[in-house]
Amino acid sequence: MSSRRVYIETYGCQMNVYDSHAIRDGLRRAGYTEVQRPEEADLLLMNTCAIRDNAEQRVLGRIGELQRFKKERPVQIGVLGCMAQRLGEELHTKRPAVDLVVGTDNYAKIAELAEAARRTGRPQFDVAVDGSVTYEAEPESAPINNSHFVTITQGCDYRCTFCVVPSTRGVLRAKAPEVVLREVKRIVEAGGVEVTLLGQNVTAYRHPQASFAELVTAVADVEGLRRVRFLTSHPTDFPEETLRAVAEHPRISPWLHMPVQSGSDRILRRMKRGHRLAEYLAVVDRARELMPDASFSTDIIVGFPGETDTDFEATVAVLERVEYDSAFLFKYSERPGTPSSRLEDDVPEAEKDRRLQELIRLQDRLWSERARGMIGQEWEMALEGTDTKGRGFFKGRTLNNRKVLVPQRPGLGLGDELRVRVVSVEGTTFFAEPVALTWKYRRVAA
Ligand code: 5AD
Ligand code: SF4
Repeated sequence: MSSRRVYIETYGCQMNVYDSHAIRDGLRRAGYTEVQRPEEADLLLMNTCAIRDNAEQRVLGRIGELQRFKKERPVQIGVLGCMAQRLGEELHTKRPAVDLVVGTDNYAKIAELAEAARRTGRPQFDVAVDGSVTYEAEPESAPINNSHFVTITQGCDYRCTFCVVPSTRGVLRAKAPEVVLREVKRIVEAGGVEVTLLGQNVTAYRHPQASFAELVTAVADVEGLRRVRFLTSHPTDFPEETLRAVAEHPRISPWLHMPVQSGSDRILRRMKRGHRLAEYLAVVDRARELMPDASFSTDIIVGFPGETDTDFEATVAVLERVEYDSAFLFKYSERPGTPSSRLEDDVPEAEKDRRLQELIRLQDRLWSERARGMIGQEWEMALEGTDTKGRGFFKGRTLNNRKVLVPQRPGLGLGDELRVRVVSVEGTTFFAEPVALTWKYRRVAA
């Protein structure tokens, strides 16, 4: 029998991108080949997100589109990820075309479940939760272009009242340091120079053999690796030890993606975030003290149940105070089964829209004022790819995660590190002129 072909579509966060790689590897071992077009596949997999209702609606719509392939040939549709975990068999009720529903702890069984569905003609479900499962992915084939993701924690021990993650991803589990280091070394051997350590709450990493600070330092010390980034950070899990590790290691990125969610203590309490605003700001201030180059990004929810104008103004004040490079701004979306779904969703939709728009405009204005002030500065950056718009630029990032385009010049190639001078900015992308080549990329021999 010729090998079966799988097509994987990934939704949601970087954790899902990483899981999809691990899923692809597992299916390869089970005899599948990955294809890039759904038309060519025998198994269509969707690795889904459940964080907000609109994420789920998109997937339901997409299943509706993909099911037309079933009219042409015996193709199977599988739903994985957080939405599979959250809805289980209900997914098949909502979309009878679904043949497989596989939860976040059961990806090792996808091939077996697909086979069972084929043999029996009946849909297969496995959303059992096993608090010990972690995944390991092979390095991607394109070695440089972007950061290679390495998931180091799965799940979350917090119980933020708006969040489905504790029920879709389970409790926090940490990968052993030697497994993380093995993955990172393989990435370097495959030609990679940068990794991003991932976790819903990455700074909460703890293992009998290493704290987060120790792990991130050990990763940064891997020979041949040039940069380590990590996300998502939680202010409660950001002790001095971690701040110092980031500050003291020249290859750890001083970019903190640390969601604040709201600037109001009253709302933070209702969200059960486990900290007050002052504690969040203390981490930001200490980080800036230790790392003048630190950059910050955040997630914010507007219109959480009970959010008043005064609460919202407190969030406005946080944007002004912290000066984020970027802010991911969301309208509250009630998620079935979460603690906050028992609170009345009492901020009218139009008001949520208004608050969202106000924050978007404010962040744009604050950022563009600051960004203009950066013109003329000299930065270090690494080249990661070519500009997709075909304008003859390389694209890359600084260690603190600012996006920069530089003109392609003979002698410059992907992976190289440069000193550049910023000449202009559009949105969050800077344009710069090369000043000097500071490090030439060479593949480490395997
Ligand atoms: N509604 C709106 N936004 C949410 N997020 C998580 N749950 C919800 C929800 N129910 C946002 C948070 C989180 C980001 C990944 O998604 O800001 O940090
Ligand atoms: Fe969800 Fe809160 Fe955990 Fe983040 S820290 S994954 S928002 S429960």
